[in-house]
Amino acid sequence: MSISTEAERLGMEQASNAVAYALKEMRLYAKPGMSAKELDDFGGAILNSLGAKSAPKLTYGFPGWTCISVNNEVAHGIPSDDKVFLEGDLINIDVSAELNGFWADNGGSFVLGEDIHGHGKLVAASKDILQKAINSIKGGVKINEIGKLIETEAKKAGYTVIKNLTGHGVGRSLHEEPHEIANYHDRYNTTRFKKNSVVAIETFISTTSTIANTQADGWTLLGNKGGFVAQHEHTIMVTGGQPVILTAANGIWDI
Ligand code: CO
Ligand code: CO
Repeated sequence: MSISTEAERLGMEQASNAVAYALKEMRLYAKPGMSAKELDDFGGAILNSLGAKSAPKLTYGFPGWTCISVNNEVAHGIPSDDKVFLEGDLINIDVSAELNGFWADNGGSFVLGEDIHGHGKLVAASKDILQKAINSIKGGVKINEIGKLIETEAKKAGYTVIKNLTGHGVGRSLHEEPHEIANYHDRYNTTRFKKNSVVAIETFISTTSTIANTQADGWTLLGNKGGFVAQHEHTIMVTGGQPVILTAANGIWDI
């Protein structure tokens, strides 16, 4: 969406704060021995208490309030009972929701407890790349230039990017124009970021894979070459200068 009134700005701020707060609290609540279902129910209760409705459930009938992907799962992991967290797991939580007709989206990967498997470097690279990407976005910048930046930075750090998962416009629905803000230089995408538009920028930084494939459960995405993926996502408003990071309260850059 494009923000043109104070009411729209306020509506987007409220929806963004709701998803940011839920994500932050869920990350703090996650513990070894806990199931993804337990963590999801905790997050779902927070959204509910804020009057926000789970976007993946509302939009796609997703079997959970939030997406929780663990270790080799790239995205859209189902928060099931039998998915029990272990120390050192690479966990991704993605929280998106609707509040008063406004939609916001955010996510982040982290290592649970002690980093016994050494996923920390991948997580740090993803966070750093998201920060660089967002700092380079303003009205008039080509969308594929940001993709190029993400891929170049990933390569520099020794990683690949997932090419078929992308950032996207957001605001009046979960996914709207521009539909594909890719993590690579898509030369067929000649569109530019527009001032006052709201977009979700997300990284998909991978140790080996380049494509994410849907599994038999109809949701879970796994990499075509295995390995691990880290994702970090903010909903932002594009301006003529530095973007406004609407989901800044999730604190994904602070930890
Ligand atoms: Co998104
Ligand atoms: Co998301």
